Amino acid sequence: MTGRTTLAIVLAAGEGTRMRSSLPKVLHPVAGRPLIAHVLAAAPNGKDDAIAVVVGPDHQAVVDEIKRVRPEAKTFVQRDRLGTAHAVLAARDAIAAGADDILIAFGDTPLIDAATFARLRDALKDGAALAVLGFRAANPTGYGRLLVESGQLTAIREQADASEAERAVTLCNAGVMAFAGKTALQVLDKIGNKNSKGEYYLTDAVAVLRELGLRAAVIETDEDEVRGINTKAQLAEAEQVMQRNLRQAALDAGVTIIAPETVFLAADTTFGKDVTIEPFVVIGPGVAIDDGAVIHSFSNIVGARIGKNVSIGPYARLRPGTVLGDGARIGNFVETKAAEIDAGAKVNHLSYIGDSHIGERANIGAGTITCNYDGFDKHRTDIGAGAFVGSNSSLVAPVKIGVDAYVGSGSVITRDVPEGSLAVERGEQTTRQGWAKRFREMKQRGRKPKA
Ligand code: UD1
Ligand code: MG
Repeated sequence: MTGRTTLAIVLAAGEGTRMRSSLPKVLHPVAGRPLIAHVLAAAPNGKDDAIAVVVGPDHQAVVDEIKRVRPEAKTFVQRDRLGTAHAVLAARDAIAAGADDILIAFGDTPLIDAATFARLRDALKDGAALAVLGFRAANPTGYGRLLVESGQLTAIREQADASEAERAVTLCNAGVMAFAGKTALQVLDKIGNKNSKGEYYLTDAVAVLRELGLRAAVIETDEDEVRGINTKAQLAEAEQVMQRNLRQAALDAGVTIIAPETVFLAADTTFGKDVTIEPFVVIGPGVAIDDGAVIHSFSNIVGARIGKNVSIGPYARLRPGTVLGDGARIGNFVETKAAEIDAGAKVNHLSYIGDSHIGERANIGAGTITCNYDGFDKHRTDIGAGAFVGSNSSLVAPVKIGVDAYVGSGSVITRDVPEGSLAVERGEQTTRQGWAKRFREMKQRGRKPKA
């Protein structure tokens, strides 16, 4: 939106007791991303847009997450939980700094879409002093009801204060609102706490504003978008909705997903062209999948960059820091972590590759383990391009296997293996069969290994 400045205020001071968890509510993840991060990602993020988050005392972990997603965000602590209007006023300094549009969102409403914020702002542009997001609730119990008279929003009534007739209203308050900046403080300061809970209700803004001769508008949206999360059951429901959306978006972008309902994606998963995902695949945060890659069934992938035409699984586990070059192959029962595996390299069966670099076209035999941990520290393994590591070898890090080097099956490698040399620590059978010698001869004759 051009020419109008925004302040988005996200309320996240609640304890979230109903989650029955030691983790603050807004840090629980949906699609691999904390609730609050979804909301912050949907809030306007241009050069004229500011953001403020109201947090509870002792919520440093929440502040850290806010700074990670939106480093420019200002955080305000609400010490006593005296209601949603009181929470908004905790950010008084940010409001007083002046913005054309002031958006209010809840940190526990993760499915909110950026386009909805834009629709609310449009209503302000059209002259409303407040735009309230409403939805038709399948079960309105617990929500504030939007009371509309001859097309005008006259009040929002909280469940506890609603009459029998008002409780029958299904048009509900989503909690997301937009205030015109120039009247926001004037309205907020007039909100009192004379209600059954003795709280300062943000929803009373509607009645206050009408007394001032100002107008409030209602923008409607789908219930799924404004699901608020208070319990683990609601967290699971939101996950379901978000997964449905993410799968649909991936399908629309051309990803082949054979059984979408069995595939779990993260909010930040990215895909190239012609990617195929087989049934029962779980993708966590931080995964980018390039053109033509195939993810076979039962693979679990987190924090990994996957190059073009890579094949993964079935039953592969890719952990954070995995980077796979074009055409690399990771087969069944292979685990990788902080592993850079270059183009055309193969780790096809039953391996652990951690804190490692594997050069182009290297072949890592079945059961190869990088022994990266000495009980205290992690150490690196570096395997040169074109090297061959025989099956069931243990590479005891720190260790380097040179370019085109050969490690016999069953070796326990504790010293560096120089470029092009043969290391057969315990792999006598391999030498007897002449595999190592043959490997070198074939390379010299320039024969390509079988795919
Ligand atoms: C609120 C609305 C209700 C709406 C519903 C939608 C009010 C008075 N009621 O009710 O009309 O239908 O949301 O889900 O606004 N918070 C603070 N400090 C406080 C109180 C709340 O930061 O002192 C935060 C909470 O962390 C939460 C949000 O504000 O993110 C909403 O608070 P909550 O207690 O969940 O309000 P509801 O009763 O659900
Ligand atoms: Mg709520």
